[in-house]
Amino acid sequence: MLYLAPSVLAADFSKLGEDIQVVDQAGADYIHLDVMDGRFVPSISFGFPVISGLRSFTDKVFDVHLMIEEPERYLSAFAGAGADIITVHAEACTHLDRVLHQIKDCGVKAGVALNPGTSLSALDYVLDTADMVLLMTVNPGFGGQKYIPYMTTKIKELRGVIKARKLHTDIQVDGGIDLTNAEEVLLAGANILVAGSAVYKGDAAKNVKAFKQIFQEFET
Ligand code: DX5
Ligand code: ZN
Repeated sequence: MLYLAPSVLAADFSKLGEDIQVVDQAGADYIHLDVMDGRFVPSISFGFPVISGLRSFTDKVFDVHLMIEEPERYLSAFAGAGADIITVHAEACTHLDRVLHQIKDCGVKAGVALNPGTSLSALDYVLDTADMVLLMTVNPGFGGQKYIPYMTTKIKELRGVIKARKLHTDIQVDGGIDLTNAEEVLLAGANILVAGSAVYKGDAAKNVKAFKQIFQEFET
């Protein structure tokens, strides 16, 4: 299955609830929530009180991407705020295997994110545990950056590994995804596309529908 996950990082922070409802009604599958701590990444975005405040605006999957150090300190808080998927960075976890199990113990799905410069080998021993792998296709920290072209090879390689190991792990791509490269990442094997600027710049509902149209054409 293919899923579109608009990132609210590019939405209007003075009316996040409304902006989430627009993409929900237009057919978005997940709502991607980027949490930044000013340490793991330079910027600071928002945390679990904001996510909990947004929960009543939609029933869609809350896909929480933690770009924070020591994420294990906050897992139950994010699960309690309404996260359905919690993704942690391999680079931010000393005990990645333990953290993934802790996420699952909270009753939510567990994702592992890799920065562009991190090798897929970081996943060797946790791939069976993770429900999803998030491949960063820009260096994390800011919206509106350009897709790094050589990440296409990384997506292909990961899809190959997942197939070879007979797993059904989702591959999410995040950063610089737009209507011009969506097909390329789908062909490479990604099945969850995060898009911030490409959704929220201009007419968000129209942009969501354009992505979903690409999905439909790809699936048929
Ligand atoms: C970047 C974040 C992304 C970001 C994507 O660090 O993880 O989710 O919002 O934004 P765009 O789609 O504008 O690159
Ligand atoms: Zn993200």
